[in-house]
Amino acid sequence: MGQVAEVPYPDGYRSWQHVKSVVVGPEHKSFASEGGKIFEFYANQAAVDGYRTGRFPNGSVIVRETLRAVAGEGESQGILTGGERSALDVMMKDDRVYRETGGWGFETFNSKNGRLAEQERMQCYGCHVKQKDHDMVFSTLAAAGGVGTPYPDGYRRAFLHSSMVPRSTFDAFAKKPCETPCMAGIFHFYANDKAMEGLRTGSYPEGAILAEEMLEWLPTGTNGAKEGQRRLVGVMVRDSQRYSSIGGRGYGMFDGDSRADRLDAKTREACYQCHIARKNQAHVFSEYRER
Ligand code: HEC
Ligand code: HEC
Repeated sequence: MGQVAEVPYPDGYRSWQHVKSVVVGPEHKSFASEGGKIFEFYANQAAVDGYRTGRFPNGSVIVRETLRAVAGEGESQGILTGGERSALDVMMKDDRVYRETGGWGFETFNSKNGRLAEQERMQCYGCHVKQKDHDMVFSTLAAAGGVGTPYPDGYRRAFLHSSMVPRSTFDAFAKKPCETPCMAGIFHFYANDKAMEGLRTGSYPEGAILAEEMLEWLPTGTNGAKEGQRRLVGVMVRDSQRYSSIGGRGYGMFDGDSRADRLDAKTREACYQCHIARKNQAHVFSEYRER
């Protein structure tokens, strides 16, 4: 085995996406060694995409910073804050370089920025490999506020009730959900069984899911065209409790191959504000004709 490329020090990691904080309480078996410490997790942009899609692209870096907990005095007595850093664990994805350790380079910088020995790296890998199904990563990045609309798993197998609006200039939809380069697209609409019931009867049971997918429209030569990559999929999920503040419908938007809703509360509200125009049709624009 040749010399493995060193994992570089993660410059500026404190301004990356904060993933989570962890404090080990007295009831945990590792309290003796890990108590009195605060762990902060950060991820760079590529790793944020990885958390979303489940596959971390090369260049992803995740760090876990260990801080000593410092007890406050006087007015601040009883308050613990993060003090000096005692260690910085780093994982960097590069499947061309770190082939022996699942595509990830492992490193720990101690307070003096020292590095790990080869054998220690194998220990990191030996434990992280338990998370093989999650690309070796243990932590998860929760959607902001935990209100993200779930990905409509398997929607392509759901009943397809209509498709195809190969037009770039349909104002309402072309501009709003589709703000990225919005060229001509093919739109497919999907409805699960509950949503089909809603489309037929006008009353949507809880759990009804409608999805609108936009694919690239690729001209082939002079007179043909075919579907290309998926650009996005928008969904509407009926759940009167969870989404009570926006008419009992959860709105979600997934880019490309992503399975994480990219909408925040404000954009979700904007979806609602337009869809409410169809108040008498249960907020749904599409119509279905039985034939
Ligand atoms: C015995 C198992 C084990 C070993 C050995 C281990 N880790 Fe981890 N590691 C974990 C667990 C569990 C988490 C998630 C902890 C949490 O969520 O609080 C984690 C989290 C991390 C994270 C944050 C990304 C993630 O997977 O959530 C990094 C970076 C990391 N470890 C690096 C290292 C490095 C570097 C080594 C070797 C020096 C190492 N780990 C050794 C179990 C291990
Ligand atoms: C400016 C108005 C407007 C906004 C804003 C809007 N939509 Fe729509 N939406 C429509 C129209 C019109 C249709 C029917 C589209 C068509 O036939 O292409 C539609 C259709 C849909 C459908 C298929 C079900 C149905 O109602 O026909 C889904 C799912 C959907 N939109 C999700 C979203 C999401 C998610 C957002 C927010 C990111 C959003 N929409 C924002 C106007 C809007």
